[in-house]
Formats: sequence, C-alpha cells, structure tokens
Amino acid sequence: MDTRLIAANPAEVETECLVAFSLDHGSNKKPEPALTIKHPGLEGAVAELVSSGEISGKAFEAILLHHPRGLKAKRLLVIGGGKAKSFTHLELRKAAGTALRAIRPKMIKSCAFTIPDLATGSEDAVRSIVEGAYVADFDPDTYRSDRKDFSMKEITVIAPAGVGQGKLQRTLEQARIIGESQNFTRELVNEPSNRLTPTMLADRAKKMCESVGLKCELMGPDKIKEMKMGAFWSVAQGSDEEPRLIVMHYEPSGTQEKPAPERPVLGLVGKGITFDTGGISIKPADGMEKMKYDMAGGAAMIGAMRAIALLKPKVKVIGIVCATENMPSGKAQKPGDVQIAMSGKSIEIINTDAEGRLVLADGLHYARTLGCTHLIDAATLTGACVVALGGVNAGVFANDEDIYQHFTRALARSGEKFWRLPLDPEYLDMIRSSIADIMNTGGRWGGASTAAVFLKEFAEETPWVHLDIAGTAWIDDNKSWIAKGPSGIAVRSLVEFVRMFEEISN
Ligand code: BES
Ligand code: MN
Ligand code: ZN
Repeated sequence: MDTRLIAANPAEVETECLVAFSLDHGSNKKPEPALTIKHPGLEGAVAELVSSGEISGKAFEAILLHHPRGLKAKRLLVIGGGKAKSFTHLELRKAAGTALRAIRPKMIKSCAFTIPDLATGSEDAVRSIVEGAYVADFDPDTYRSDRKDFSMKEITVIAPAGVGQGKLQRTLEQARIIGESQNFTRELVNEPSNRLTPTMLADRAKKMCESVGLKCELMGPDKIKEMKMGAFWSVAQGSDEEPRLIVMHYEPSGTQEKPAPERPVLGLVGKGITFDTGGISIKPADGMEKMKYDMAGGAAMIGAMRAIALLKPKVKVIGIVCATENMPSGKAQKPGDVQIAMSGKSIEIINTDAEGRLVLADGLHYARTLGCTHLIDAATLTGACVVALGGVNAGVFANDEDIYQHFTRALARSGEKFWRLPLDPEYLDMIRSSIADIMNTGGRWGGASTAAVFLKEFAEETPWVHLDIAGTAWIDDNKSWIAKGPSGIAVRSLVEFVRMFEEISN
C-alpha cells in the first residue's frame, strides 16, 4: 500500500472514495451528528442524510454515497466516530480501519482521508489514520486457494492547506513504517508451525535484517549448550526441530562531533515457541491448534526491530528471540527434572507446559551479558493473564518505576491497551523449591504474577518490563476495523518506547 499526503480542498480531490468522519455532539436521548470537518461542500453533500438521521455519528457506522453532490470524488464514505466528547486517536484508528474494511470488498483500490480535529493535534490524527489503515489492510487467509486480493493500493491523507506539511509528511512516513512492521509481525504469527519452524523463523528474521541493514546472528543447539543455556535447552531438547537463538543488533549512527551514545542499551527479548504442545505435561486437544501463536512475543520483537532499523532512533537496541518447539518425546524433559539456567540458578520443573519462562530466563540473562542496561520482554506467557484481563488488555509488569513511566508514555501514543499487574515478593515465595532455587510454576492462583516474578529473578537489578500478551496476540472474531487472527500487539508500543527513550537518554 502506498501512502501520500497532499494539501488540498477535499471537494476538489479526485479519488475513488473520499472518507470523512461524523461525530455525535448530542445527548443519549437526542443525537446531534456533524462531520468532523467544517466544509460547506462536504456538509452540503451529506445534509439530507444528517437531517434524516441516517448519519447518526454512532461509532463505526458506515454510509457510502455515490456521486456526492458538489464533490470531485466518485464516492463519499462517512464513518461514525461515536460521541464527540470521547473522540480520541483510539477511536480515530478504529474509524479509519473501519473505512478501509468497508470499501475493500468492493474492490475499491484507493481512497482519500480528511483529517479530523483531534485535541492532540493533526500529527496524532495522521499517525492514527495511517496506522489504522495498515492494520485494517491485513488478511489472515494466506492459504485459501480462493483467496481474493482485497488489498488497498493507495491511501491519500488530505491536509488542510497551511499546516506544517513537512512535519505531517514525516509523521506519515513513520506511521507507514510502523504499520508495515506490525503487519510483518502478524504474517509471522499467522504461519502454522509446519510452515514456520524455529529454523524458518530465524531465516525470516535474518532476511528481514539483511533488507533493513541490521546485523543478525543465529545460534543453534551446539552454541546454546556451549553457552550453558540450560533452561532454554531443556525445552528444546524434546523436539526433533532444532532451536534457534536469534540476535538482532541495531546500532545508531553518529558523527565525529557527536558520536552515537554507548548507553543505554535496550534489550528486547521475545518468547518464540513455534508450537506449544505442553511437552510431557501435554495440553488437551481442544484448542491446541492455537498454540502456533506462542511465538507472538518473538515475532513482535522481530517486527519492532524492523521498524527501529528504518526509523533510526539514537539508541542501541538488541533484539533476542528464543525460538523452539515444546514437544513431548523420549528426549523431552520431565516434571521433577532440575535444570541449571545460564545465570547459574537451578530450576525444578513442575510442569513442562510452563516453558515460556524457561526460554526467557536464558534470553533475559543473555541480554544482560551483552550489556543491556534496560530490558523488555514480550510473551504469550500465561492462561492466567487471559483469565484476568481477557482479550481487552495485555498484562504489563515492571521492576522499576522510571522504565514503567516511559512505557506508559509509549502506550499513550501507540493506542495499545496494557494493564499493570503486581510483582510482590510474596509471589516469589510461591515458587520456592525444596530441591532447587525456584520452581517453574507456583500452583493455581496468581499465575500471571508467579510467572512474572520467575522472570524477575533473571532480569535481576536491570530495569525491566514484562509484557504478557497471551490474551491479546490473537483476535477470535472479526471486528469492523481489524480481521480476526494475529493482532501484532506490542509492536507499536515497543517502537514508541524506543523513540521516547531516545528523547530521554540523549
Ligand atoms: N503458551 C502458554 C500460555 C497461553 C495460554 C498462551 C493461553 C495463549 C493462550 C504457556 O506456555 C502455558 O502453557 N502456560 C501455562 C502455565 C502453567 C502450566 C503454570 C498456563 O498458563 O496454563
Ligand atoms: Mn506452555
Ligand atoms: Zn507457551
């Protein structure tokens, strides 16, 4: 999809479909719909529909007009944004996505968006429209033989004449990079495990790195064992598929006068279980097919590294993905086994299905040995997080208030929803082992937090954020603005975090 910005009078824009938004300024009893853009031509074209109540401003209502009177556009699409009072970039993202998904099945290949006034400014509006459009342009039906290509060819954003074109143009470019990267992550997550083994995931990451100029190292079983990654290897040992440790390096460029800063170094560590059967503590058959998405945290890191490479922030970032299957076999680890992690900590395996924390334990420790001063991990880690927050919020944990504040500021820009969950030391008491330092599960209660404190033992003193995306990485039902399937959650927040971090650290 191409994106472009023009400054023009919307009535004069020749396009297959002009998109405008309507909001409800009234009360619950009496709606007062109005377009978000004050423009006599546009308002004239929809006047009848507004007075008849056909356009109500209700969220995600989509009204399509052909040959709109007084406009050069072939069609005018009016998308409802809901109550004017609560209209923010969150609603605008969804409204823009709804617009795309409304016209794509009609084989309309290009459209032009008007920019609504947002309290947070027109840059925020442009970013939301473009990112929302990319998210909407993704279909998960890769392997259907009757697949139709509904993809959009081009979107145009119409800036009001006079506003800072340069800034908006840059915003649009950046939003395109972020939207494409989120969809790259979704492509990876969508792949079934027979078409995306750990080796293939590593190769895809490497190819991406080569295309954007990142250094990428891939390590196999020998290297993983040589580095004494006993926790990671304990999961990998049960599978006939080889594991891969994927390490992607982003180095900011500098000049002689202003060399790139050596610190901070951000480590992004992702869980890359390409299929989670549970291992010897095997999962029930019902719904097990979904466990192909157990590499969504790893895929989010790969997508984020792509965006970072293209956006070029002045911060060092290292992306690490621990990729393996979790399988039962004659070589698989068993409940009761004791494993020694790379950090030297001993772990009693209670349940082989709690494998994510094992691979991340070594991933986090390895990131520290590479000199990371700050850490973020992302993982489809626990069913307990799904129980607590459903598909609405992802879980976020942090061992440091500063890094958590940066992360919440990133959320305000990305529009992704995360909810903080606790890391009290009492949860650590729940995973004490009688034979080893810790156990890999802590019983039935507080499962998201016992998993998180397990990871905290390996982040140690390094400021660290843990993202549990088990409930949000896969969307079960189609929505008007996004297809069911992989969501690409965390990519945008990670990228915004790095950009935020750049401002603070330089
Ligand atoms: N990959 C799962 C967590 C998961 C559950 C992801 C549902 C997506 C949707 C993880 O490896 C797992 O199996 N966790 C167990 C841990 C338990 C054995 C302590 C769980 O949450 O049931
Ligand atoms: Mn598991
Ligand atoms: Zn898992």
